[in-house]
Amino acid sequence: MIYSRIVGTGSHLPEKVLTNFDLEKLVDTSDAWIRDRTGIERRHIAAEGETTVDLAEHAARRALESAGLRPDEVDFIAFGTTTPDLVFPNCGVLLQGRLGCRGGPAFSVETACSGFMYALSIADKYVRCGEAKRALVVGSETLSRITDWSDRSTAILFADGAGAVVLGASEEPGILSTHLHADGQYKDMLYCGSGVSKGFGPDKVKLSISMVGSEVFKVAVTTLGKAVDETLAANGLDRSAIDWLVPHQANLRIIQAIARRLDLPMERVILTVQDHGNTSAASVPIALDRAVRDGRIKRGDMLLLEAFGGGFTWGSALVKY
Ligand code: COA
Repeated sequence: MIYSRIVGTGSHLPEKVLTNFDLEKLVDTSDAWIRDRTGIERRHIAAEGETTVDLAEHAARRALESAGLRPDEVDFIAFGTTTPDLVFPNCGVLLQGRLGCRGGPAFSVETACSGFMYALSIADKYVRCGEAKRALVVGSETLSRITDWSDRSTAILFADGAGAVVLGASEEPGILSTHLHADGQYKDMLYCGSGVSKGFGPDKVKLSISMVGSEVFKVAVTTLGKAVDETLAANGLDRSAIDWLVPHQANLRIIQAIARRLDLPMERVILTVQDHGNTSAASVPIALDRAVRDGRIKRGDMLLLEAFGGGFTWGSALVKY
């Protein structure tokens, strides 16, 4: 039996930091309100001209370095993003060109904040069936490009960053299961209303994120709660089997609700949202990389990864690290 196992992790945040106090100067808000409602303290914003693939390349190279692999050893790239550099080629291919690992499949998936979970699930299947040996899975975003900086309900949340993992084929179990879902009836709850076919620009449709925050919050909590139950049930495990929850870093209060559902103390939850806000598809691999590098997550630990985003789309994975 072949499994896929995480053999390397990496992440990257752009240099420029925007604190809650900086945001107080842009919109009618306060550091106290933002921290109280979201847990966010600061976020990173890509420099002018710095793209999603620029951020991804840093994260990918770090992940490969930690795996002890050369870029040309990668034979599969799955890239989650909602903020691609170009209409085409897709970000996976652009990254492949930068890294110089030619020939294998490279593509991006645009499932908003669950983009990394979708990419991970697809890559896992390819490694398990023997068609890929070393897969690079990336989540990278420049959400600042589609944020309306005059809208206080969204400007406080979204930001930029990248994370990556390398999956290797292994006889030992690594990724135990992945679970993907979507429900298109919620398309108007969280979306960016412009696009190639629909058109861009002020006279067409809005080129920025629109969100019904309180509804997103409620559905996210219920849906992720069910996703966590589904993941444990699929593996015949009790909540006590989880060593670490590595959640989508959207909002501290959503994360706390899921931790309660798992009966996990917050010390067993990887929390990075305070430092970078909601980086969408990048958030889970950024959190994972941080906890691996600071030594909290160790080989053999049981991890539950989950994310939820616009669509709605959501996904979870049970991983023996
Ligand atoms: N600063 C200060 N006040 C703000 C504000 C801000 N940045 N944004 C909204 N408010 C105000 C509202 O205008 C409203 O004022 P009113 O009572 O006078 O009408 C009040 O705060 C409450 O607004 P509400 O939207 O009900 O707040 P909330 O408690 O739901 O918190 C969010 C707003 C966005 C923080 C919260 O809904 C949330 O986190 N939702 C999930 C968003 C998310 O994670 N999206 C991504 C999913 S992948």
